[in-house]
Amino acid sequence: MSEDQKLPKEPPVLLPGAADFTDEQIETARVFFAQPVSFIMGAVRMDAMPPSDLPEVAFAGRSNVGKSSLINGLVNQKYLARASNEPGRTREINFFLLAEKVRLVDLPGYGFARVSRSVADKFQDLGRAYLRGRPNLKRVYVLIDARHGLKDVDNAVLETLDKAAMSYQVVLTKGDALKKSDQQFMLEATYDEIKRRPAAFPEVLLTSSETGLGIPELRAAVGRVLAERG
Ligand code: GTP
Ligand code: MG
Repeated sequence: MSEDQKLPKEPPVLLPGAADFTDEQIETARVFFAQPVSFIMGAVRMDAMPPSDLPEVAFAGRSNVGKSSLINGLVNQKYLARASNEPGRTREINFFLLAEKVRLVDLPGYGFARVSRSVADKFQDLGRAYLRGRPNLKRVYVLIDARHGLKDVDNAVLETLDKAAMSYQVVLTKGDALKKSDQQFMLEATYDEIKRRPAAFPEVLLTSSETGLGIPELRAAVGRVLAERG
C-alpha cells in the first residue's frame, strides 16, 4: 500500500507532532459511543448529584460555545442534550449515562448570559463548584469557539483548573466556520497559549458538531482517558 492510500480520506486537523490515534482506537471509541445513552438528571446543587461511583468527563466553556451540541455529536443523537442559540440555555449540570460506564456532563456556560446577573452567577458558581470538587471527574474538556480563541474569561477558568490540579483538554468548536488555513492557525495559536499550563493535556482538538470534524478524535480522546484513568 502506498503512503497515499494509508491516509484517511479526510485527515483530522491536529497539531503538527500531536499524538494522533490509530484506526483501531478511533473504531473502538466509535463503537463505545454508539452504545445506549440516556439523560440521568439535571442538578442545581452540589449535594443533589448522582453518586460519585462512575467516572465522569465534563464539557465546560463560554455560553453558546457549543457544549450541548458537541455532546449530541459525540453520541450521534440530535436532541439528547438541549442545544439552543439562546446563550445561557443550560442552567443545570446535566448528567448523561453512556454504556452504563461513564457519565458525560454538560455544564452551564460561563462568561455571558442574557439573564440577570444573580441568576447567571448562581449557575456559573455551580459549574465552578463541580469542576473543583468532583472526585470522580476524570477530565474536563474546555470548549473554545474556534472563531474567537481564548478570552480572558476562558483563561480564568483554565487558571482555576490549574490551581485545582484538575486535568483538562482544550477543544475548539465550530471549526466549520473557518477556512482550513485559519483552522490550522487557531490550533497552533491556542496550543501555544496552553502548552505551559500545568493541568492542560498538551494537545488541542478542532471539532465541528455541524460537519462531524474532529468528533471521532474527541471520542478517542475520551476513550483514552477512560482507559488510563477510568
Ligand atoms: P449554553 O448551554 O447556553 O452554555 O450553550 P452551549 O455551549 O451548550 O451551546 P449549544 O450547543 O446550545 O449551541 C449554541 C449555538 O451554536 C446553537 O445555535 C448551535 O446550533 C450552534 N453550534 C453549535 N455547534 C456548532 C458547530 O459546530 N458549528 C456551527 N456553525 N454552529 C454550532
Ligand atoms: Mg448548553
